[in-house]
Amino acid sequence: MDFNNKVVVITGGSEGIGRALVNSMLNRGAKVATCGRNHDKLYQLQTNYPGVPLHVVVADVSNENDCKKFIASTIDTFGGIDILINNAGLSMRALIEDADVNAFKRLMDVNFWGTVYCTKFALPSIIERKGTIVGISSIVGNRGIPGRSAYSASKFAMQGWLEALRVEMFQHDVNVLWVSPGFIATNIRTSALNAEGKSIGETPMDESKLMSAEDCADHIIHAIKKKKRTVVLTLTGKATVFMSKFFPSITDKYIHKFFFKGGKLIK
Ligand SMILES: NC(=O)c1ccc[n+]([C@@H]2O[C@H](COP(=O)([O-])OP(=O)(O)OC[C@H]3O[C@@H](n4cnc5c(N)ncnc54)[C@H](OP(=O)(O)O)[C@@H]3O)[C@@H](O)[C@H]2O)c1
Repeated sequence: MDFNNKVVVITGGSEGIGRALVNSMLNRGAKVATCGRNHDKLYQLQTNYPGVPLHVVVADVSNENDCKKFIASTIDTFGGIDILINNAGLSMRALIEDADVNAFKRLMDVNFWGTVYCTKFALPSIIERKGTIVGISSIVGNRGIPGRSAYSASKFAMQGWLEALRVEMFQHDVNVLWVSPGFIATNIRTSALNAEGKSIGETPMDESKLMSAEDCADHIIHAIKKKKRTVVLTLTGKATVFMSKFFPSITDKYIHKFFFKGGKLIK
C-alpha cells in the first residue's frame, strides 16, 4: 500500500507513538489529521510542519461530540478518510482495592469509547474508500496486568469490538487490525492515573531502555501496508502473550513476581 495522498486520521498525535505516526505518514506523502486535548501541544506540532497537509483539532476522544466534529472537519478539509488509527490512550497504576471507580470509568471512556466514537463517525467514508481501521491496543489487552485493571479491561474491550468489526467489514474490503505494543518510551506511564484519578507524574521504568516511539510507528505502518490482522511488539510482549495463552497459571506467578515486592505494587 502506498500512503501518498491517502488521508490518515491519527487520534492523539501530539506526543509519543501518535506523533511518530504523524511524522512518518507526512514523510510518506499522506494528508494527516490529528487531535488531542491540549491546544499548545497541537499548535507546536503544526508549527513544526509548515506548508504540509496537516489538520489539527482540539478534541477529547472521550467526548462523542468532539469526535463527531473532528471527523466531520477532517472530511471537509481533505474530502474523505482512508485510514483511521485509534491511538489516543490513557493508562493507570493503582490496585483495585484502593482505586476510585471513576478512574476506571475514565480509562474506558478514553480507550474504548474514544475508539467507538471515532470509528463510527469515520466508517461511512472508510467503507466508501475501502480503507483501514487500526486500534492501538497493548499487551494488557491480551493479558490482565495488576495495577492496570481498567487499562487492561479497556484494551480487551477495544480488541473485542474491533475483532467483531473486522469480520463485519470483510464484505466492504475494509481491513481492521489492532496492534499490541510492549513497553515503548513515551509519556504514557507519567500521565497514567493514580488511585484518585490524578496523573502520577513519574515513570517507574528506565525509559531509555525501551523501544522508541519511532520504531513502534514503523511496525504499525508496516502492519497497515501488509493488511495484517494483529501485531504484538517487543520480545517481552510476545513472550507474555505466548505464555499467557499456553501457560496461564505459571504466567500469573511470574507477573506477580515482576510487579510486586513485599506485597506492594512496584511497577
Ligand atoms: N507507551 C507504551 O509503553 C504503550 C504500550 C502499549 C500501548 N500503548 C498505547 O499507545 C497509544 C499511544 O500512547 P503513547 O504511549 O504514545 O502515550 P503518550 O505519549 O501519553 O501520548 C498520548 C497522546 O494521546 C493524546 N490523548 C490522551 N488522552 C486523550 C484524549 N482523551 N483525547 C484526545 N487525545 C488524547 C495526548 O495528547 P493530550 O494530552 O494533549 O490529549 C497525546 O498526544 C495509547 O493508546 C497507549 O495505550 C502505549
